Amino acid sequence: MLSKPKGTYDVLPTNSRVWVKLEQIIRKVCELSNYLEIRTPIFEQYETFHRDQSDSSDLVNKETYDFIDRGDRKMTLRPEGTAGCVRAYVENKLYVNNKVTKLFYLGPMFRYERQQKGRYRQFSQFGLEAYGPKSALLDVDIISTAVMLLKAVGLSKVRVRINTLGDSESRDNYRNVLVDYFSKHINDLCEDCKVRLEKNPLRILDCKVDKDSDILKNAPLISDYLNEASKLHFKQVLNLLDELKINYVIDNHLVRGLDYYSDTVFEIEYESDVLGNQNVICAGGRYNDLVKDLGGPDIPGVGLAFGMDRLLLALENENINIVKPRALHAFLITLGEEAKEYGLGLIYNLRLQGFMCDMSYASSSLKAQFKEADQNNSHFTLILGDNELKEDNINVKNNLTDEQVTIKINELTEYMLKEINKCHNCGGKCHEKMSN
Ligand code: HAM
Repeated sequence: MLSKPKGTYDVLPTNSRVWVKLEQIIRKVCELSNYLEIRTPIFEQYETFHRDQSDSSDLVNKETYDFIDRGDRKMTLRPEGTAGCVRAYVENKLYVNNKVTKLFYLGPMFRYERQQKGRYRQFSQFGLEAYGPKSALLDVDIISTAVMLLKAVGLSKVRVRINTLGDSESRDNYRNVLVDYFSKHINDLCEDCKVRLEKNPLRILDCKVDKDSDILKNAPLISDYLNEASKLHFKQVLNLLDELKINYVIDNHLVRGLDYYSDTVFEIEYESDVLGNQNVICAGGRYNDLVKDLGGPDIPGVGLAFGMDRLLLALENENINIVKPRALHAFLITLGEEAKEYGLGLIYNLRLQGFMCDMSYASSSLKAQFKEADQNNSHFTLILGDNELKEDNINVKNNLTDEQVTIKINELTEYMLKEINKCHNCGGKCHEKMSN
């Protein structure tokens, strides 16, 4: 029997509505904050992600799905959204008319990682990216939009951790200090960190193997090597977060797993052990040089990405339901062949008028069909037999009130609308929603 690839999972119908709802909430939040959707390809040219020999991130070096296509071109399945988004921003010259461009995207990403709860080889991200002047306002526009999403879904057990990596001048100073420091301890570093020391010593601070060692704990901190401009930018970001009453903790050791960051970096953690190391549900930061590095003008960017899978796991763990139980307006059960054939036309017409309907397709007993109607949680059960059909009649059972009436088939729409408007659950809104 065939099975799904390792590190992937099927979203089954019981769960897909939750995904759709989350996407709807995300779109609403983006609308409120004026981020516009961009849809970029799921695969890009290899060089979009592997830009630079000196890139030291695991993501770029060990985790991408690379392949040669039938035209002998080297391609990569996107492991994240930022690089493709920047590529599209530059290629389509989105910078021409706008001082600030604010984009969002949703969709699958691919990383060859060890599978764990909350860590998959195909997972979904919701990302925000903003291109424009290097203003603390944009950093906080991004972070506050993430906070809005968390409020919208009702997840409050979260913590924002934030740090600054400084501008390139500060980072160069710091880099030299780190090289001096770690060179003295080179024999105690893991093999990956020895390579990082050459390529990007900052990433040693993010090492999962050495994370508890004294060498890392006692390493010099970027905060002692920031120039005035970097200090000011970070201070402005923190002041704005205070203004917006967004809580955060400063984490001097936060460096992030991708090499393109500068200045502000942050992560949002779900405060619970259930996801283990995978409790970072959102992460991002400023990347001042990426647009330029991908052939565009010198325009800085800032962004973030939520791991949607992790966000949903956190909601599930908190017993937060973002979807209402599924319900139909009407479910048709029939007695007799003629009634069944007529019935499909009947519910087709109801559907065209905005009623969510279905019917029993099998030739099963009335009892079994009533059970099917129950399972579909319908407001009305419509019961049509060959005998009723001869008289143009139909039986309608209102499952919310348990009343049953026999009416003319051509009065059915009017009757259902009248009853739905009386509906104490929704006051008629469920029908409106469907017709929109
Ligand atoms: P990232 O930290 O690599 O950043 O990923 C962002 C989020 O995606 C993580 O915090 C996590 O929630 C989720 N995630 C990452 N890998 C996996 C996985 N294997 N399985 C499940 N969820 C995962 C970025 O991707 C940057 N592009 C974010 C960004 C946007 N920075 C600036 N703009």
